[in-house]
This record gives sequence, C-alpha cells and structure tokens, in this order.
Amino acid sequence: MRTPIIVGNWKMNKTVGEAVNLVSELKSLIADVSGVEVAVAPPFTALVAVGREIGGSNIQLSAQDVFWEKEGAFTGAISVSMLKDTGCRFVILGHSERRQVFGETDASVGKKIRAVLAEGLQPIVCVGESLEQRESGKAFSVVETQIRGCLKGLSPTEMEAITIAYEPVWAIGTGRTATPLQAEEMHQKIRNVLKEVFSQDTAINVRIQYGGSVNAENIRDLMEQSDIDGALVGGASLKAVSFSRIVKFSQK
Ligand code: 13P
Repeated sequence: MRTPIIVGNWKMNKTVGEAVNLVSELKSLIADVSGVEVAVAPPFTALVAVGREIGGSNIQLSAQDVFWEKEGAFTGAISVSMLKDTGCRFVILGHSERRQVFGETDASVGKKIRAVLAEGLQPIVCVGESLEQRESGKAFSVVETQIRGCLKGLSPTEMEAITIAYEPVWAIGTGRTATPLQAEEMHQKIRNVLKEVFSQDTAINVRIQYGGSVNAENIRDLMEQSDIDGALVGGASLKAVSFSRIVKFSQK
C-alpha cells in the first residue's frame, strides 16, 4: 500500500516571518490528520526557521532544489548535507521551472538524484510535457524520455526512495488542471516504464504525485484514481486553509 503524499511547493514566495506564520497555522489545522504524508518546501532562506516550527509535528521539510557537489567553489549553490542540516527529508528536483528558466536537463537532474540518495534524503523528481508536446501527441514519449534519462542506472531500492511528480507544464499555475483521467493515464504509463526499467514490485511501490493547478475542489477526483498517490501543490499551498483542505481530502 502506498501512503499518499502531499507536498506544498512554495516556489519563490515567503520571507522567513511569513513562512513561519504560514506553517504554524497549517500545523494546527492538520494536527489530527493521519494516513497521509505532508511536506512543505519553503525557499532556502526559510528552511531552518520552518524546520524548527514543525519539529514534532506531522509536517516534514522539503527543499526545492540542490547542487550535486559536496562542497567547494560553487558560488550560490547549496549542497545536500546543508539541506540535511536544516532537517530536510525531501528535495524537489527537475521542476519544469528549473528546466525552463535555469537550464536544468535530465543529465543534471540525474546527478542531483544520486547526490540526494547518497545522503539518505528522498528526491521528488518532476516530469511533464508542454502544451505543444501534448497537442502534437508527444506527451507520453516526452515523459518516458525524462523518466529514463533521469533515473537510468539506479537500483530498484534507490528507485523506491524516489517520488515522481507528474506535472504537465500546461497545467502549472494556469488554473487548467489535467482531468483525473488524463493524469491517471500518464501515471499508468509511468508505472509501465518503471516496470520495464526496474521491476514489477518497484513499479507498484513508487509513489507518483500529480501537480498542476491542484486545489481543494479538484483534489478528491484526482485522488480517486488508483495510480495517483498525492499532489505537488503550488499556488494553493500558500494559504494554510486551502492546503489543509487538500491534505484532508487526500486521506485514502
Ligand atoms: P500550481 O499548483 O500553482 O499550478 O503549481 C504546481 C507546481 O508547479 C508545483 O510544483
């Protein structure tokens, strides 16, 4: 049985004070929730303060990116051990915004995945097609290439520590969510690829989240699909009430 996982990706939002206020409100709203894993991914600057605020609660900490080198002359970069030091358990990797704005590739995402696993943290690996790719019938092949490119060479055990987030680029921040059937169809295809590359067991055990305009209104229908194991939430995670409702509606 896969435990659902809901992660709030705060992107480049919230000062330290705002981040602590948000997570403190969220903490009390979902204090009695069980059966679903919850994490928030604040910007780097707020990780330490948010980590302190959620100590002992049912909320876990995630980062939004990392660099693969251990230490040294890499101005502006953050290492996995620095994230570990703040209490992070998850690291989001390969988000479409990092791919589009910062030139991230499947090869660089692959290096980051290895670095994160080596320190015992859990990668959340994002994949997804653009609108043009979907409209030209290439959605499945694009996602398959991303999956194979990022994950090649990993062992089944390593793969099972990873969560995949299917985020169609056309659904991110647009209010146009994929239909539950569109998402389910892609999640099944992803599981088939995992079965080919790893094993049947791995394909069954890996959690696959959906992301892209998830809100408290559409989460229930998404979660009803058998291959959707949670959500990576952007905009709706910036308000404690809306995010807490998404968390509650995700209890399977
Ligand atoms: P929105 O929920 O704002 O569409 O963002 C999705 C996302 O990119 C989460 O990583």
